[in-house]
Amino acid sequence: MRKISIPPIAITLIIVVLAGLVVGLLLFINNQPAPTRGVPPLAVIEAMEPVSEKWGVNFPNQYSTLLRTKTNNVRTAFGGSEKVDKLAVDPMLVELFAGYPFSKGYEEDRGHLWSLEDVRTTPRLNDKTPGTCYSCKSSDNPRLWAEMGMAAYDAMKFTELSPEIEQPIGCANCHEANTMRLIVTNPALEEALAAQGKDWKTFTRQEMRSVVCANCHVEYYFKGDGKYLTFPWEGGVTIEAIEKYYDQVAFSDWEHPESGAKLIKMQHPDYELFSAGSTHYNAGVACADCHMPYTRDGAAKFSTHDVKSPLIEPGKSCGTCHTDVAYVTERVNTIQQQVNTTMLNAEKAIIDAIQAIKLAGEQPGSDQALLEEARALHRSAQLRWDFIAAENSMGFHNPEEALRILATATDFARQAQTKAIQSMALGSTAKN
Ligand code: HEC
Ligand code: HEC
Ligand code: HEC
Ligand code: HEC
Repeated sequence: MRKISIPPIAITLIIVVLAGLVVGLLLFINNQPAPTRGVPPLAVIEAMEPVSEKWGVNFPNQYSTLLRTKTNNVRTAFGGSEKVDKLAVDPMLVELFAGYPFSKGYEEDRGHLWSLEDVRTTPRLNDKTPGTCYSCKSSDNPRLWAEMGMAAYDAMKFTELSPEIEQPIGCANCHEANTMRLIVTNPALEEALAAQGKDWKTFTRQEMRSVVCANCHVEYYFKGDGKYLTFPWEGGVTIEAIEKYYDQVAFSDWEHPESGAKLIKMQHPDYELFSAGSTHYNAGVACADCHMPYTRDGAAKFSTHDVKSPLIEPGKSCGTCHTDVAYVTERVNTIQQQVNTTMLNAEKAIIDAIQAIKLAGEQPGSDQALLEEARALHRSAQLRWDFIAAENSMGFHNPEEALRILATATDFARQAQTKAIQSMALGSTAKN
């Protein structure tokens, strides 16, 4: 065996060269900019910045599509963004909401950028309207809630709060500045989730793509003299759980002038109806999947912020998951027609109940206990009917549940009517 002998000077040279390379490489790496994913933010946004235009500098596609919510005024069979007067379309609502501001003005909802203008021009406003009514209308809210606390905000009158509020719905209602993650911005939502033992900070991204809408698209009420914004979710989000909650705290919005029943106006329980076991919810589909589908603009792919009826561009809204878009949109039509017919029948039944209770109330001899039972049934029926009527999808978000609730509403209304008639009969036998 021959041994190869390397002179010591050569070994020293190799070591020096290698060490130099390592040092050079380390210096090179240290001088590189920190690795970033995607495009680094151009401008730093202040926490809870209310002005969406400022965020738009960094995210022009999301901003420009948000701007479209001002002009996307297309009408669909039961939705869309035209300022339709619901009271003219369905005059039965005037009797159902008698004695309450909704009998004076009730309009179809439209795009997010209209929120401020629409709340300020509704005929439902008066001197007593609480500031709480601004809670779902403005990107100034997260900052105001952080500064003054929600209790102080809610204790103010609408007119007192108006000068503080300049922006319609915007980025700060849904995103944390700079990280852009989706967040719960409404303290009432955080509290309602906590009451159910849930912490939104542990939710997955897909869950947040629905929960972020629950900042506003929910049923709520104004608790106590301070008008503290509260979601009635302690026992869950089904209509039965919500009714139980309201019965326990003995809450009502107003007394119906004809039946004397203590009623509750439902707000817009889109999140509750959807998440109470709908097919899509159970399959893990989120609000944003249908209402904010991914869009392409050249090489950029982003969530459209032109939030609107998915029926306006069903190819984008449904086509990501369904191959037969024509079939599923036809299903929406069938479902909505069926829910609408069932809903109108429930309204007729409730109006019959109101008239029977009114008549019985006017008879001096009517059985008061039965009459009270009839009023309680009117409350239960109207609460259920309005849960579906006030919800924005004409039942599509959860068709089976919508039909179940309306069927129960009609049943309770007919029972109320029967009790009212019985109260007169019983009253007259008692007199004889
Ligand atoms: C599977 C798709 C889908 C999902 C998921 C979904 N929606 Fe909808 N949504 C619809 C359809 C379809 C309509 C009916 C639109 C119409 O009638 O023009 C609708 C209607 C609405 C409307 C009324 C729109 C209008 O034009 O007046 C609102 C508000 C709404 N949804 C909010 C939500 C919220 C909040 C969630 C989540 C809690 C949600 N949606 C989940 C499909 C969906
Ligand atoms: C800060 C409160 C707020 C949040 C958060 C919010 N919305 Fe809305 N949304 C509103 C209000 C208020 C309106 C009605 C505006 C009007 O009619 O002036 C509305 C209207 C809509 C409409 C009807 C648009 C139309 O053209 O008729 C849809 C659809 C909708 N929202 C879906 C969503 C979805 C989906 C989410 C979650 C990704 C969401 N919203 C989050 C408050 C909110
Ligand atoms: C009504 C709630 C809402 C508002 C208002 C809103 N966003 Fe979003 N945004 C979302 C949702 C939901 C997503 C989807 C997030 C996900 O998939 O994780 C999203 C995603 C994004 C993303 C991630 C990339 C993408 O497109 O999916 C950016 C960036 C963004 N929004 C910027 C903005 C900016 C800027 C504004 C204001 C001009 C804004 N958003 C207003 C709900 C909102
Ligand atoms: C993110 C995916 C996704 C999107 C977007 C989506 N769907 Fe679906 N859809 C599903 C899944 C998953 C099911 C359940 C399929 C099953 O169980 O066979 C379903 C079921 C349905 C059904 C049958 C419901 C039932 O009870 O059997 C209809 C109708 C439907 N979708 C309509 C629509 C319409 C209309 C849109 C657009 C507005 C839409 N979907 C958007 C995923 C989606």
